[in-house]
Amino acid sequence: MKRIGILTAGGDTPALNATIYGAVERANSLNLEVFGFQRGYAGLLDPRVPHVHLNPLYTTIPELDPCKGGTLLGSSRTYIDQDSTELLAAAKENLSRLRIDGLLCIGGDGTINGMQPLAEFIPCALAPKTIDNDLGLNYLDEPNDWVRRPCSENPGYHEVRQPGPEKIRLEEIINYATPGYATAVFVVVQCLERIRTTAESHRRVAIVEVMGRQSGFIALGSAYGQPDIILIPEVPLNLDRLEARIRQIYDIQQHVVICLGEGVRSEDGSELGATMPTYDPAGNVRYSGAADTLQKMLSSRLGDDLFMDNRSFEPASSGMFTRKIGHTQRGGRPILFDRFYASQLGGKGIELLADGISNEIATIQYRTDQGMTLSSISANKLRDRWGEIHPREVHPSMYDPHRMQLSAFGIEYLRPIFSNAVGSDDMEFCRTQVFSTGSLTTRYQSVNTDLRKRIRYL
Ligand code: F6P
Repeated sequence: MKRIGILTAGGDTPALNATIYGAVERANSLNLEVFGFQRGYAGLLDPRVPHVHLNPLYTTIPELDPCKGGTLLGSSRTYIDQDSTELLAAAKENLSRLRIDGLLCIGGDGTINGMQPLAEFIPCALAPKTIDNDLGLNYLDEPNDWVRRPCSENPGYHEVRQPGPEKIRLEEIINYATPGYATAVFVVVQCLERIRTTAESHRRVAIVEVMGRQSGFIALGSAYGQPDIILIPEVPLNLDRLEARIRQIYDIQQHVVICLGEGVRSEDGSELGATMPTYDPAGNVRYSGAADTLQKMLSSRLGDDLFMDNRSFEPASSGMFTRKIGHTQRGGRPILFDRFYASQLGGKGIELLADGISNEIATIQYRTDQGMTLSSISANKLRDRWGEIHPREVHPSMYDPHRMQLSAFGIEYLRPIFSNAVGSDDMEFCRTQVFSTGSLTTRYQSVNTDLRKRIRYL
């Protein structure tokens, strides 16, 4: 193996450059060339195949900064379907003309689906990323919990998850945490801290929506920001219980902070937020407005009376507000945990390819005696018996639906990720850079502008 291709696909995370950096540094030490494809699978399929040599003379190019969020290669949700013979033939031809011997894809479940048909003709490995932390398994046998029941609507079945084990061990979790998750939670926790004090001053109920699609890991991690109530998509909303809890907390402290995952569902299974299709190869949807819907549901239940005594001279209608943290969770400088493990996983991906292992995913495993260790798993182990990959969900043992808070096991799960997740350099960066006078005198320098000078075409 002499030359490896690398690409970043799907929604970005703050840790993608760190993963690419770890991969390129490992490749340097193994005397492997690394060519980066632009904008995920889209670049590979482009007839001109825009690409960048990331390590001329086995030296990492200076534009590749592991501390900078986003990806210098760009990303897209372009899909490669196993049935698109023409697209696959084009990808094969482009890879062979560039004399690429192996492909490292950095992505989530959609990227694995795109990688699968490519692995038929070129060794492929995946370095995981997603702020949602939903790439992995709570236990090895988890995909077998999914069954399909026939129904009259398209596609003729619906997927049902049968209950799995009530308890799991941390060491069983496949891919304990994905790079990007820790930084997203870091952003959420800071937002909650800020929202808290203003809700407290104005005696308001704040409803804060966080990302994560069907998985509630970001909402779970928000516990570090001490929201009074956490709602996750895995547990259908119990409105009576929620109303009672809000009244109880409001009575004690005259304000309430609720954090909810964007994919939160009602008791009938319908999602609160509107969904829109995306071009995601995993068939994922985009959510919007779960917090707004919840606010409407609650205002008719809570009415004005909850706020009357505590908010004199202010209309009760302004007693509740929503905030969607949105894409700030996905951007900016990655914190230490993400930088470190992203680069380790990138390096591991290169090692898998160098060892001739294909269609494999680099993973982080947790060991009580060793902490985080690197490992890998065949991509097919994540698939159910029909070949589908399901987003990992928060295991029921990590959340207490009665208190609407994380459980004791949930605390155990989060601790190894977050105990030392922030480095002193992260804080120093903030101290020296946020109000740097240089920012007032120079324009933002985009990596896209710098990298364009290095792009080559077939
Ligand atoms: O999967 C990552 C994610 O950030 C989700 O948490 C979120 O719902 C979605 O992507 C947003 O996608 P887009 O970038 O297309 O708005």
